[in-house]
Amino acid sequence: MSEPFKREFKVYKEEDYPKDKKASDYQDWPKQVFHVSHLEDNSFKTDGFRPWALSRDMGMVEATGGMVDVHVNRRARPFNAKDISHRHFHNVHYQMVYVLKGWVKNEFEGHGEFLMKEGSCWLQPPKIKHTVLDFSDDLEILEVIIPANYDTVNLNEPPGGHVKNEQSD
Ligand SMILES: [Fe+2]
Repeated sequence: MSEPFKREFKVYKEEDYPKDKKASDYQDWPKQVFHVSHLEDNSFKTDGFRPWALSRDMGMVEATGGMVDVHVNRRARPFNAKDISHRHFHNVHYQMVYVLKGWVKNEFEGHGEFLMKEGSCWLQPPKIKHTVLDFSDDLEILEVIIPANYDTVNLNEPPGGHVKNEQSD
């Protein structure tokens, strides 16, 4: 049996991050194995990366040889702007978020602020700058990220939520 895939969440300061570093790449998709994840009483755990969140790892990282991370996040504690509202980006190939429960307010580079509610779904293109501005205590989100290991870069700038909001309602 091969070694289990090693998860790595790396967070960088803007000045320490190589400007043109590529997200982890794969020449071919790794071998996938059939996999099922059921909800258990102890499914939600801290991932050691986001202390404000409890994460249910769906096990897709191992099942896809590290290509795809699928998880559901709940909040571990109430929103605290000082800890959470840092503008940042993720060096990924693909990131999709779906709100299962509650709400979260975000700002996205060039698009402004959005209140994402139960049923809202969005795509975060690679390296899009964004900030979490607020969330409800009962927030639950489903995230799909490729690849499973990716870098996060904290930026030396305030949230850029002053662009006209594209939200239609
Ligand atoms: Fe983020």
